[in-house]
Amino acid sequence: MFVLMMLLLGAGCQARRVPLPGRELAFVRTSGSHFVLNASNSPFLFNGFNAYWMMHLASDPTQRYKVSHVFGEASAAGLTVCRTWAFSDGGDRALQISPGTYDETVFQGLDFVVSEASKHGIRLILSFVNNYKDFGGRQQYAQWATNAGVQINTEDDFYTHPVLKDYYKNHIRKVVTRFNTITRMAYKDDPTIMAWELINEPRCQLDYSGRTLNGWVEEMAAFVKSLDKKHLVEIGMEGFYGDTMPERKQFVNPGYQVGTDFITNNLIKDIDFATIHAYPDIWLSGKSDDEQMGFMERWMSSHLEDAKRILKKPLVIAEFGKSSKDPGFSLNEREVYMGNVYRDIYRLQEGEVGR
Ligand SMILES: *[C@@H]1O[C@H](CO)[C@@H](O)[C@H](O)[C@H]1NC(C)=O
Repeated sequence: MFVLMMLLLGAGCQARRVPLPGRELAFVRTSGSHFVLNASNSPFLFNGFNAYWMMHLASDPTQRYKVSHVFGEASAAGLTVCRTWAFSDGGDRALQISPGTYDETVFQGLDFVVSEASKHGIRLILSFVNNYKDFGGRQQYAQWATNAGVQINTEDDFYTHPVLKDYYKNHIRKVVTRFNTITRMAYKDDPTIMAWELINEPRCQLDYSGRTLNGWVEEMAAFVKSLDKKHLVEIGMEGFYGDTMPERKQFVNPGYQVGTDFITNNLIKDIDFATIHAYPDIWLSGKSDDEQMGFMERWMSSHLEDAKRILKKPLVIAEFGKSSKDPGFSLNEREVYMGNVYRDIYRLQEGEVGR
């Protein structure tokens, strides 16, 4: 699930920095449950935005101006992080046409996205694959293996089957070691990239304990770090609790399981920070606005508390929003909702300062 506008990744007001020409960006790293800039150790607080379609547009040279325009507007609004897709598997304007085969034009589109972000002083969170079938995803990987005569039982084999794991690792290697044709710098050496994301919203129906996913995250995060020690790595999780915290599982989860365990999955040592996504309008559809807002408050405060106390890692609220497809949707309602979420985030941050 992704909605165009969900924002806020960390909170706090930062004096607007005029983007410097050339590459003056420092790498982002973590210090306990905070982000800091390397070397100077100054806190890195940010607001950001999601725009999954960046590479897709940039792969068509006549559309590139739109990418530049969005980075320009975002930067003027004080946003300094953009989360976007570094994948497009099979299908229309695919980056990865088939396992190991890449479209150079599309890759140059991604080069352009990285280069433009850098020019505007915006850092990127780049995701390697989708849980869902949009832009390919796990389903496409499973299909590729099936086409190659490999016996695949379900899409969840993505997390365990050696052939699928190899396809995926190969994609990671391609992206991380990519030499940017515009900046003349390898992605793995570019501080414009804030973090790598393993997968957008992992879910695993075959194993609700979160253990299958845990094994996969351990292996893949270590693999990324074996290629690139400079960048942060995160999973891409929505934040569903598992058996580690039965009370959270019962009272904070929206009433169902997706095969992740927020605690154990994010405790993995090569995972540098945790993320949550939240769509109470969809997860609790039919419930009142008040109930949905109550859920949202618990979802944020519980995860923030756990990130600080148990994980000792930063938490990014990486997606939230209110769908225009909701019954009775109005723009005003969305604004009120988003306003409340931001207010809560700032309050949670202040609470931390006072503690
Ligand atoms: C972080 O800063 C230190 C000290 O200046 C430097 O030695 C190191 O190479 C930097 N790390 C990265 C990833 O830039």
